[in-house]
Amino acid sequence: MTYVVAIDQGTTSTRAMIVDVQGLPVASGQLEHRQYFPQPGWVEHDAGEIWRNTREVVGIALSHADITRHEMAAVGIANQRETVVVWDRRTGEPIHRAIVWQDTRTQDYVDRLAKDGGTDRFKSLTGLPLATYFSATKIAWILDHVAGAKERAVRGELLCGTIDTWLVWNLTGGPDGGVHATDVTNASRTLLMDITTLQWSEEQLELFDIPRVMLPEIKASSALYGSIESSSLLREVPIAGILGDQQAATFGQAAFDKGDSKNTYGTGNFLIVNTGDELVASRHGLISTVAYQREGQPPRYALEGSIAVTGSLVQWLRDSLGLFENAADIETLAMSVDDTGGVVMVPAFSGLYAPYWRPEARGAIFGLTRYATRAHIARAALESVAFQSREVIEAAQADTHTSIPVLKVDGGMVANELLLQLQADIWGKPVVRPRVMETTALGAAYAAGLTVGFWQDTEQLRGLWHEDSRWEPSISINDRAVRVAQWHKAVTRTFDWVE
Ligand SMILES: Nc1ncnc2c1ncn2[C@@H]1O[C@H](COP(=O)(O)OP(=O)(O)OP(=O)(O)O)[C@@H](O)[C@H]1O
Ligand SMILES: [Mg+2]
Repeated sequence: MTYVVAIDQGTTSTRAMIVDVQGLPVASGQLEHRQYFPQPGWVEHDAGEIWRNTREVVGIALSHADITRHEMAAVGIANQRETVVVWDRRTGEPIHRAIVWQDTRTQDYVDRLAKDGGTDRFKSLTGLPLATYFSATKIAWILDHVAGAKERAVRGELLCGTIDTWLVWNLTGGPDGGVHATDVTNASRTLLMDITTLQWSEEQLELFDIPRVMLPEIKASSALYGSIESSSLLREVPIAGILGDQQAATFGQAAFDKGDSKNTYGTGNFLIVNTGDELVASRHGLISTVAYQREGQPPRYALEGSIAVTGSLVQWLRDSLGLFENAADIETLAMSVDDTGGVVMVPAFSGLYAPYWRPEARGAIFGLTRYATRAHIARAALESVAFQSREVIEAAQADTHTSIPVLKVDGGMVANELLLQLQADIWGKPVVRPRVMETTALGAAYAAGLTVGFWQDTEQLRGLWHEDSRWEPSISINDRAVRVAQWHKAVTRTFDWVE
């Protein structure tokens, strides 16, 4: 056995990557899927399309590499988190489009529940604030709005799950004996799991009125889930690891131990700081989450700074404002000016997540004068990514009483070197990019490979991490302080926008 296959089912696309024992990608396939925005604040995916794309990208990767399933030791899955699918156990058909993590349609569920105890009422039980972001209210919404769904769910006719669960069930046979399971990292994003016992909380299920029979079994991240069904190109290959995409990137960055961290720049940004065996309750607006769990071992926890809008801001500038043609063009455009000309942009499109958790905030561009051009706006957009990241890094340092020495970065946006320079400038410490930037897929491969003995231990995996490039801060402390203060002023002015 010479390879592991990783499936990275993301918010905008699905990738398959074949990884060798050195942790290097040998081939990959990638397909985008359609984003549905049926109403303001609503975001949906077609789960059937995601499943078809998954099979197709695996085929593309295998044919590019010209290898067969006989050389595959295991399959690992990383997935967009919190997004939910509810489907018919007998036909395998979803009863509604998947409701995506960014979707805010359930704000009234949140407001209703927050009346009794505020948005922190589930924090000690689940590690999470009460927010539309997490899965629970999305499942409840589907059960409430699809005719007959609640009754069918109670009768055991419906299954639900996050995207990992949807894929594993389909990969292992679907209606024909499919395995209905999820991993602890995904389960820790639902508001339904007790983060200490790592089991579904009966109390939460009752509160959200979600029948227990719909839910998957919670397993360790690095564990055997089942074998791939017989009509697949990967038939009989074991699925041996699942991690939510951000936890997968943490794993792929070899951030296995307490104090290790990474920041991923994708659709949104997600800082994760490993807190080891310790479940740290944040006092600075971060969430507590499971970093990973290996079979038979205790879980590792993490603090997470989740930022809703970063790469999707670049997409918005491209698609909705038409400022440039390709995402990568933002770098040249932003580099055509020396600074933002006083423009500050706060992309609170879905309210603000960490560290503020202000659902009623909305996006704004400040400091406009006739001097401002699209180049200044492009540059301000990149700076907003760096400012938002700085805030969650500061919060993590305050929560853990430690200092993060360098920032390990990854994700689609880190191809943008101007962004990484701005990040080093605005944060004030070095930013480091690893050789393999596809850390999400890599982490899924690592989790699966460890289970089947393809790799021996995390020490071996740590040895596979290599630095590619590094950016050092290049502005004065004073300059930084002025810009940070201005950013902060702008952020607070987006609060309380929606009544
Ligand atoms: N050169 C670039 N400069 C700035 N932003 C970029 C650049 N290249 C890609 N992006 C942005 O990065 C994002 C894609 O990154 P990535 O593929 O890591 O996202 P993701 O959140 O992991 O997506 P998915 O959920 O589909 O995996 C897009 O939002 C895109 O706008
Ligand atoms: Mg991704």
